[in-house]
Amino acid sequence: MNVEATRLLWPVPWGWSLHHHPITGSTNDDAKRAALSGCADRTVFVADEQTHGRGRLGRSWVAPPGCCLLCSVVFRRPVSPIALVALCSVSIVEAIRASSDLTPRIKWPNDVMLGDRKVCGLLAEVVGHGDSRATIIGIGLNVNLDPANGGLPVTATSLSHECPQSWSRPELLTAILVQIDRHYALEPSATVALVWPKWEALLWRKHQQVRIDSAEEIIEGTVVGLASSGALRVREASGRVIEVSVGDVLAP
Ligand code: BTN
Repeated sequence: MNVEATRLLWPVPWGWSLHHHPITGSTNDDAKRAALSGCADRTVFVADEQTHGRGRLGRSWVAPPGCCLLCSVVFRRPVSPIALVALCSVSIVEAIRASSDLTPRIKWPNDVMLGDRKVCGLLAEVVGHGDSRATIIGIGLNVNLDPANGGLPVTATSLSHECPQSWSRPELLTAILVQIDRHYALEPSATVALVWPKWEALLWRKHQQVRIDSAEEIIEGTVVGLASSGALRVREASGRVIEVSVGDVLAP
């Protein structure tokens, strides 16, 4: 697709650059290469299909061709990776809410949920250092697919499955980038101050019981909120509140 056709099919807000590939290995790898070659802040890489999509903790990311939003954004401002994950998660929730009656929640640290099922995963990676440092946020959002037939985990869902309507991947991406800009246009400290309470308010299973599979131990307790570090605060049965910085949160 030439530059003009890409601009028409995948419009982006002012200040953004977009590169679209029908098929690629991983959009996170495309974004990392471009970041190391000096691409601008707010460059986004999109693909219809990935041959080596990656998830957190070394897992692979499965997405049938042409029906998911698979993209990676290069951020260069001095905002921490955890705050950028929060910013993007909140922006995805706000974009979905603006297009439907769905009420997504954020499963700490980086999944967007519809009910008890995952509709979107985010993957943060950092490249370079000093002034050349960039954070890549990869987004895998299940849009138009039947989760039972796409080879996805049984815990996954899609927007079309939860809300049967016409979902356009380019329109969703534009809506997400507009929401990102609302937060990212501020000073880095103001970005964090705006995003943190929204992230906390949207936490999946807030005030409810969870099990956390965290580096060699299982923690059980009630989700209380977030620490300023981005750790999840959980109240154990003893009443003690602990901060969890690594792990998978599960319904008990
Ligand atoms: C996770 O939930 O484990 C994170 C999944 C992130 C998947 C997206 S799809 C677009 C981008 N490219 C990748 O290879 N991974 C991310």
